[in-house]
Amino acid sequence: MTAEQKKSWEIRLEDLTLGYEDKVVLNKINASIPGGKISVILGSSGGGKSTLLRHLVGLRRPMSGKIILDKYDMFAMPDKEFRALRRRMGMLFQDGALLGSMNLADNVALPLREHTSLPEEVIREVVLYNLDLVGLAQAADYYPNELSGGMRKRAGLARAMVAAPPILLCDEPTSGLDPINSGQMDALLLNLKEQNPDMTIVVVSHDIESLFTIADHVMILHGGGIAFNGTLEELKNTQDQFLKRFLDRETIYEESRKEEHRSLRPETQEEVRNALDKWLGRN
Ligand SMILES: Nc1ncnc2c1ncn2[C@@H]1O[C@H](COP(=O)(O)OP(=O)(O)OP(=O)(O)O)[C@@H](O)[C@H]1O
Ligand SMILES: [Mg+2]
Repeated sequence: MTAEQKKSWEIRLEDLTLGYEDKVVLNKINASIPGGKISVILGSSGGGKSTLLRHLVGLRRPMSGKIILDKYDMFAMPDKEFRALRRRMGMLFQDGALLGSMNLADNVALPLREHTSLPEEVIREVVLYNLDLVGLAQAADYYPNELSGGMRKRAGLARAMVAAPPILLCDEPTSGLDPINSGQMDALLLNLKEQNPDMTIVVVSHDIESLFTIADHVMILHGGGIAFNGTLEELKNTQDQFLKRFLDRETIYEESRKEEHRSLRPETQEEVRNALDKWLGRN
């Protein structure tokens, strides 16, 4: 696997069935995720987005079918090559997944120290370049517990990118962030894309606003299959009622409204109210 091979890596899913033990989450899906673009994977909660990402990064094996990265049939490779392929993928985990015992610079340097014999001063330069790219050059000596949630995510992104992977996978990069931090994360991903035009970036998200900001390509998972796979433009112009409602968040809202919720017995409500009144000195 050398750098001069084809520049951007396409991802192909062929008759792919994914799940856990005897539970199928995605059933016989077929799709391509284009190389060198930002693709956003959407879907209702529990629809299998993280599950798909875990398989793309090689943490789990599919029940059946193939994942083809560039020209590599991921799960049909000898172990050694499979491990080498996995190293070619950067993954931003939901909370950044930084090691608490190391400062940011060492966290970001980790992949380079583990997998290369680059001299320290080169590593330092690459680390500071990447921290600067995510706006954290000043925080190189901070430990993860000294950072805000948004800073941790950005640091996780710097680490995922440090080995310049052809494929970068991000699980919910804006979840748990306020609108300003979310906007910064979107801007960062766009900036990153500009700096690395060949990089294939796959972002799992709940965030419809972020979708419209960053996506070239969109995949929507629903009911164990793929409800849409195409460009953002195609999605915007869709006449499909389900997709339109999905984009308006109506589907998600209606589905939550349909859920049956447990209710408190009236005598319990009464008892709790009395106890709280007593505790709070009401009456
Ligand atoms: N480790 C696991 N073992 C068994 N089942 C799992 C496991 N992880 C996820 N699942 C199940 O797989 C299904 C898909 O979960 P997944 O986490 O992929 O959904 P998601 O689309 O990422 O949802 P969310 O938007 O809430 O993050 C769910 O029904 C979930 O219960
Ligand atoms: Mg998830």
